Amino acid sequence: MKEIRIGILGFGTVGAGVVEGIQKNGALMAERTGIHPVVVKIADLDMTTDRGIALPEGVLTTDAMSVIADENIDLIVELIGGTTIARTFMLEALKLGKPVITANKALLADHGEELYQTARDNHTGIYYEAAVGGGIPILRSQRAGLVGNQIESIYGILNGTCNYILTRMEREGLPFDEILADAQQLGYAETPPDLDIDGVDTAHKAVILASMAYGAPVPMDACPVQGIRGLADQEISNADELGYRIKLLAIIKGNAGEVELSVEPAFVPKTHMIASVDDAFNAVFVKGDMVGDTMYYGRGAGRSPTGSAVIGDIMEAAADKLHGIGTPVSVTMMLQKDELKYGSPANIEKRCYIRLSLLDRPESMDKVTEILGRHHIGIASVTQKQGPKKGYASVVVLTHKAKEAEFVAAIDEINVLKVSDADPIRMRIEDFE
Ligand code: HSE
Repeated sequence: MKEIRIGILGFGTVGAGVVEGIQKNGALMAERTGIHPVVVKIADLDMTTDRGIALPEGVLTTDAMSVIADENIDLIVELIGGTTIARTFMLEALKLGKPVITANKALLADHGEELYQTARDNHTGIYYEAAVGGGIPILRSQRAGLVGNQIESIYGILNGTCNYILTRMEREGLPFDEILADAQQLGYAETPPDLDIDGVDTAHKAVILASMAYGAPVPMDACPVQGIRGLADQEISNADELGYRIKLLAIIKGNAGEVELSVEPAFVPKTHMIASVDDAFNAVFVKGDMVGDTMYYGRGAGRSPTGSAVIGDIMEAAADKLHGIGTPVSVTMMLQKDELKYGSPANIEKRCYIRLSLLDRPESMDKVTEILGRHHIGIASVTQKQGPKKGYASVVVLTHKAKEAEFVAAIDEINVLKVSDADPIRMRIEDFE
C-alpha cells in the first residue's frame, strides 16, 4: 500500500467537505486504488470556527507557505478561492514540482495560461475537476471518454445559486433576495454572490469547458456575459405560458473553425431535458460528432459534492505521481494550440423573446413590425395583454432566427418610439437545433 500525503490550503465549505470525505471513505479509496490518502496539514487563517470535524493535534495551521514547502507533503489542494493569494500559493507549489488540485474557476479563467505553463515547465499538473459543475465529473468525461470526438456544442447550467433562485422564483413566486439569502445559507453562493448573479461564475466555467473542448486557453473577454439580476416575475410567467422555462445557460459552439460562446438567461423548451434541471443541480449537455447528444447531471455546488470532485482529482494526481506520469492530459489538452478564432458576438444567430410595453393604439404594432422587418427579424408569434399600465399593452413577440447585431439595432430604434413606454426586455430562445 502506498501513501499520498496531502496539504490543504483553505478550510471553508469545500475544504471541510474534502477532509470529511477522506475521513469517511479513505479506507475504501485505499482498497480501490492501492493508495492511502492522508491529510497531513490544513492551512487557514480561521483556527476557531467549528467545522464539525475532529482533527489530530497540529494539523491545522495559519501558515500556508509552510504547508507548500513541507517535504512531507506530496500534493497541494488549493481551496482558498479568489485570484490573488491563491495564485501566489499555486505558483509556489507548482514551482516545487507539486501537483495542485483546485476548485478555483476564477483563477483558472483569469490566469490559466500562466498556471498551465508553470505546471508544464515543472513537469507537474493542475487538476481542476471541481472547478466546473461541482460534483459532476464533466472534465474527466470530456478529456477521456469523449477524446475521440469533435465537440460540436456544449450547453451548461453551471451555477447552482442561479438555478436554485430561478427554480424557486418559478415554483414559489418568492422574491429574488429572499431566495438568494437561502442559497448563501446553504453554502452554494460565492462571497460576495455578485459573481453568481451576474453570470461571471458561469462564464469562468464556460471558458474552462471551451478551452478543454477546443485546445487552447480561452480568455474571459471572448465570452459575452449576462446574468439573472433584475429578472422579472413576468418573464418567468410568460415563459411558462409559452411552453418554456428560463435557465442561465453557458452556450459554446464550434462553428466552421470558430468558437462561439456566451452566458445568458435563455428560454428553453419545457420538453428539453435541460429544462428539468432544478434547484442547485447543474447539467452539461455535450454534442460530439461521434457520440451525438450526451448529458451529465449532478449537484453543482456545496460541501460534499464539490468535495467529491476534489477527492477524485487527489486520487488521480496521486496515481499520476506514484506511477511516474508526467504532465497530465488535462493541462496538455489546454495548450495544443496557440490561440483560437472566435465568432463575433454580433454575428451570432438566435431566436429571441421580446416583451414590449406599447400604447394600445392601432399604429403601435405597425411601427414595431416595420422596424423588425427592416432588420430581417421574422416574427414567429405575437401575444398581447392589457396593462399593467392603463392605456398600454404588454406585447410579447417570439422571433425567428436573426443576427444579434440586428436585434441590438432594432431594439435601439424601438426604445425611442413614442408609442413605447419602457425599455423592451429581450432574451434568447434556445431550441437546441
Ligand atoms: N457559487 C457556485 C455555484 C459554487 O453557485 O454554482 C460552485 O462553483
